[in-house]
Amino acid sequence: MTDLADRRDVETEVYQPAEDSRLLADAAIADLDSPSLALEVGTGSGYVAARIAAETGARVVGSDLNPHACAQARDRGVEAVRADLVGPFREEAFDAVVFNPPYLPTDPADERDDWMEVALSGGEDGLDVVEPFVASVGRVLAPGGAVYVLVSSLAGVDEVVELAAEEGFSAAALRDDSFPFETLTALKLVR
Ligand SMILES: C[S@@+](CC[C@H](N)C(=O)[O-])C[C@H]1O[C@@H](n2cnc3c(N)ncnc32)[C@H](O)[C@@H]1O
Repeated sequence: MTDLADRRDVETEVYQPAEDSRLLADAAIADLDSPSLALEVGTGSGYVAARIAAETGARVVGSDLNPHACAQARDRGVEAVRADLVGPFREEAFDAVVFNPPYLPTDPADERDDWMEVALSGGEDGLDVVEPFVASVGRVLAPGGAVYVLVSSLAGVDEVVELAAEEGFSAAALRDDSFPFETLTALKLVR
């Protein structure tokens, strides 16, 4: 049984599903063609991983730096591993890799040094986590596999497309959604 203190931890320490989570899950699920093994980096609550597993039949592994996120994702039935990006995973292991990264540009003076900061902050240009992800994800992608990554206009879609091109990926925008202060885009990267 979850007591009140545990619930408070979950709500303040684990990013809960929002418009970006839903946009990424919808775009990946609509595009995926019978994947057998997928990875969700930064799984948070496990919402995206659980939807992909339920709606495509894939086995989906989640990873997150945040141990509270791994615990919550496991409670949702997701196999979750505490990891930094794709570090511990085997070469060419996954048919698809999905990531809704921290992307908010953040002034170093405003950093909070907590798990919500880890979930939200993309550093000064919003790209601090996306950049190493794009640089490392190719190693764990099976031939013919695809990467699905959520990008905000606050960090810059063109910047992410350019980073991906430097790693040999071509990018396509699958769908987007506009809000008063940003547009969210689900990008698909393939080699
Ligand atoms: C915007 S939240 C997305 C959570 C969830 N996937 C969703 O869409 O609702 C970003 C997640 O990435 C995780 N994260 C941040 N940096 C990471 C890293 N280097 N490696 C793994 N996970 C990371 C955070 O802890 C957080 O759970």
